[in-house]
Amino acid sequence: PAPAERYAALPKAELHLHIEGTLEPEAAFRMAARNGVKLPYADVEELRARYAFTDLVSFLNVYYECMAALRTEEDFAELCETYLRTAVGQGVRHVEMFFDPQAHTSRGVPVDTVIDGLLAGFARVAAGEDLTGGLILCFLRDRPVAEAAETLESVRHRASDLIGVGLDSAEVGFPPSLFEGVFAAARALGLHVVAHAGEEGPVEYIEQALDLLHVERIDHGVRCMESAEMVARLRAERIPLTVCPLSNLRLGVVSDLADHPLPAMLREDLMVTVNSDDPAYFGGYVADNFTAVADALGLGEEQLELVARNSISGSFAPAGRKAQLL
Ligand code: HPA
Ligand code: ZN
Repeated sequence: PAPAERYAALPKAELHLHIEGTLEPEAAFRMAARNGVKLPYADVEELRARYAFTDLVSFLNVYYECMAALRTEEDFAELCETYLRTAVGQGVRHVEMFFDPQAHTSRGVPVDTVIDGLLAGFARVAAGEDLTGGLILCFLRDRPVAEAAETLESVRHRASDLIGVGLDSAEVGFPPSLFEGVFAAARALGLHVVAHAGEEGPVEYIEQALDLLHVERIDHGVRCMESAEMVARLRAERIPLTVCPLSNLRLGVVSDLADHPLPAMLREDLMVTVNSDDPAYFGGYVADNFTAVADALGLGEEQLELVARNSISGSFAPAGRKAQLL
């Protein structure tokens, strides 16, 4: 079977997925053309040639450039619908998708256009499939804290359209501690909270995310393995870690998939999940990630079934929905 088909039968939740990272080059050029936007690449081939990333920031530069193609509510609806149809085909039954409002409002696209479009796309797919989930608004940690606070204020009136908030973009130099007040305000709105930490940043960022932001999950978190103390804590507190193997490979977090810490994390009894992060850019959707770790790391069926169950348990789905999927 094709890589994606091998683990497609396993019901799973996708907990670490940036919807803007599902924008495939062909769709970017199609949307740019209809919006009269000029992308800074001659064609799809030239864009794909830019996918030779060396680290997180080298990826983020291309990721933000391509977002220029996204302008209308229908663009966001199509983006979301297209991703969800692929995800459903790969066994995803629940998805909590990240979106980056500041990357759009800074270009003059209103946050309501983004949210309305994504929710419309979600509804089109959920109407005919066994699929639940919603949106997690991410703050861009490499932009001013005041802008994050304004972004939260701008969605206060529609907090019920969101599952929670997260923290993404360039990590090193932008510690979670900066966002303590913004996250407190988000929690006061009844929103769930997660944060990227320990992808490129140090273990201290994971600690700050837990102690200062009071996050319920850590996105990536692979660098926790540098601290036995942190590993013990994550195990004891059953903190889900949303690991993204192909992302880690493409961004140089690991130099070879065979060196990925996922097996060691499982041996440590950490609550790990496997996710696709930015599948259009990193060479695979969620079942492709399952297949890649099965092949490169020799993980067996039982381990991957556990990883899939972790994703459902670690989700913010209502208890009844979790029971249905487990
Ligand atoms: N890390 C941080 N920011 C991001 C990522 C990521 O993996 N993907 C999209 N924005
Ligand atoms: Zn991410």
